[in-house]
Amino acid sequence: MAVDLLLGLQWGDEGKGKIVDVLTTSYDIIARFQGGPNAGHTLEFEGNKHVLHTIPSGIFHPKAINLIGNGVVIDPVIFKKEIDNLAPYQLDFSEKLLISKKAHLILPTHRLLDAASEAAKGKAKIGSTLKGIGPTYMDKTGRNGIRVGDILATDWEEKYKRLTQKHLGMLKAYDASIEYDLKSMEIAFSESINALRQFKLVDSEQYLIEAQREGKKILAEGAQGSLLDVDFGTYPFVTSSTTTAAGACTGLGVAPNKIKEVYGIFKAYTTRVGSGPFPTELFDKDGETMGRVGHEFGATTGRSRRCGWIDLVALKYSIHINGVTQLMMMKGDVLSGFEKLKICTAYKTTSGVMDYFPYDINSGIEPIYEEIPGWKEDLTQMTEASLFPANFQAYIDYLEKALETPIKIVSVGPDRKQTIFR
Ligand code: GDP
Ligand code: IMO
Ligand code: MG
Repeated sequence: MAVDLLLGLQWGDEGKGKIVDVLTTSYDIIARFQGGPNAGHTLEFEGNKHVLHTIPSGIFHPKAINLIGNGVVIDPVIFKKEIDNLAPYQLDFSEKLLISKKAHLILPTHRLLDAASEAAKGKAKIGSTLKGIGPTYMDKTGRNGIRVGDILATDWEEKYKRLTQKHLGMLKAYDASIEYDLKSMEIAFSESINALRQFKLVDSEQYLIEAQREGKKILAEGAQGSLLDVDFGTYPFVTSSTTTAAGACTGLGVAPNKIKEVYGIFKAYTTRVGSGPFPTELFDKDGETMGRVGHEFGATTGRSRRCGWIDLVALKYSIHINGVTQLMMMKGDVLSGFEKLKICTAYKTTSGVMDYFPYDINSGIEPIYEEIPGWKEDLTQMTEASLFPANFQAYIDYLEKALETPIKIVSVGPDRKQTIFR
């Protein structure tokens, strides 16, 4: 059976958690393949609101298996908190949650290195979530990392100490001092490692090979967004993993020819949290309205998200790199009440007009917009596409045509139920 992928096409926070939760009824296995607790995936149903960081967004469904793949980096302290927060739901984790032995661990000193690196960069900082993501992936590719499987080995303590000592040496080299209390961080870490040992730690690629053989339906859940990809994003203002479709192959051990549908998810406008270029960013009342109506605050850090108009140059780029087969448009409801909407169709640059995403979008880029009329109606109570106001329908039609990809789901609110299939 084929594997389907769901990926964010912008700078993250597109609404991946919500849609994975909605789609889980059609899948047997939901698998996270990259990123770590820098992600914050929000689910809302039956009056509950829940934010997941490491655990896949299919966890609330009674039958689905949720798998944390080898490409994910896990902070056991945050993972334990997530598990504790789920206590009221009485989920059977022994049956429902599998963790790859090959996933890398975020150590307390990885978080310190992240903080020191950002402090040393000063104004040029990435705007990292400070969860230790960059340093952990650096240790992975540098072949110094510690993996989940290592916590079962007899030399685990030694491995931990050796790497921690190395990190403490590295911390001294940073041109910025940070304050920390490693002792108390280590107490929490040690407790959470003991908790992690109680979970099903598996050879997840083998599990998925067998699941495919048995005809199980698998959905791979992306974290972050394509414009934060370490290769294709707005480098260096990116995360440290492959957030695009290729990441599902390396992060789960799924072969490229086994991937079928690639669901590309985007907001009806654009947001970004952290530093880095954002050509359609708004600094006026319109941007402020999007942020306020859309409650645009980071699900992981609580920082306000920068807001701007939709950017078709960036979206086309993401669609091509991921091989998107179906689109999902989120948060159209937030745009109700705008007299006119702007759609960025190209960039004016110092070397002419560009309709593709260039190497350098850091400076000298001015978006070229088309304007279309907005709509006034509240979309949040709408239950089918036939009820959409004409101008909202025209917005969808415009995007579908320009992006040459069908928009199959339109989301009109944060709740599971506010999801319209087309
Ligand atoms: P993710 O990281 O891609 O899972 O997205 P986040 O959870 O970080 O951010 C998306 C936010 O938008 C969350 O607060 C969701 O509850 C909310 N949301 C998702 N879809 C919609 C929608 O269609 N309309 C509105 N108003 N909010 C939405
Ligand atoms: P989800 O899965 C939005 C951003 C950070 C920062 C940059 C690098 O919820 O969409 P990192 O902590 O990875 O070193 O930060 O990437 N970032 C996200 N922005 N949503 C996310 O995840 C993000 N994960 C990281 O704000 O700019
Ligand atoms: Mg998020």
